[in-house]
Amino acid sequence: MEIVILDDPGAIARLAADTIAALLHEKPAAVLGLATGSSPLSLYDEVAARCARGELSLAEARGFTLDEYVGLGAEHPERYRNVIDREFTSRVDIARDAVHGPDGLAEDVPAACAAYEEAIADAGGVDLQILGIGTDGHIGFNEPGSSLASRTRIKTLTRQTRLDNARFFGGDLDAVPTHCLTQGLGTIMAARHIVLIATGEEKARAVHELAEGPVSASWPATVLQHHPHVSVLLDDGAASHLRMAGYYRETYAAKPGWQGL
Ligand code: GLP
Repeated sequence: MEIVILDDPGAIARLAADTIAALLHEKPAAVLGLATGSSPLSLYDEVAARCARGELSLAEARGFTLDEYVGLGAEHPERYRNVIDREFTSRVDIARDAVHGPDGLAEDVPAACAAYEEAIADAGGVDLQILGIGTDGHIGFNEPGSSLASRTRIKTLTRQTRLDNARFFGGDLDAVPTHCLTQGLGTIMAARHIVLIATGEEKARAVHELAEGPVSASWPATVLQHHPHVSVLLDDGAASHLRMAGYYRETYAAKPGWQGL
């Protein structure tokens, strides 16, 4: 796991966008794993700006979102499918039908989850997964206690996650769905490269557990310690509980400029 601490938040977005650009240069039809939440927004802004300047094209790329609320109507602005369209798909040249998400309105939930796993596998798997992290250490919507080997399935959201996300629902906790469909930890682990972005001090405990805690379903993101290629991009606040922050900073500062994430 490579930990990169960057004081300038714009630098996090640029570094992650460079990584996407390098992947697309090598593999124009790459499969991107797309996360919702506020953490990747500046990255999506940066990718959209590069597309607008003609420096980057996602014309052949494909995308899979991590998770979806159960039961939000097709037009609901917070339905993750709509969020990703608004924040990403509509602002870049990726084909609209090349981006997929779990079906939060499916009548047969297990069948919908199995179909989603199959769609990812049929696309050849995810080349680059963008991730955020919840304050309780969840990735996707894999709440504490999730099986480290889990696959796409329905989950009950914790009260903490619903409180965290109430800001997207006008501060109304009751408006936040109680259930979601999410790629499992095993699904996320199958991505070839994972770039996790975390900013702000409220993420500091989860980031400490992710990088330095014991691997445990109590902090689901810790499963990433078993992944061979994870890049964790942090601002000072999110890095503030890391015991080895000095070491991570020195290591990154000494890294040759030509070497990407
Ligand atoms: C949400 C999403 C996650 C996201 C996380 C952090 O509940 N399901 O994919 O990474 O919580 O969100 P944010 O980036 O807004 O802090």
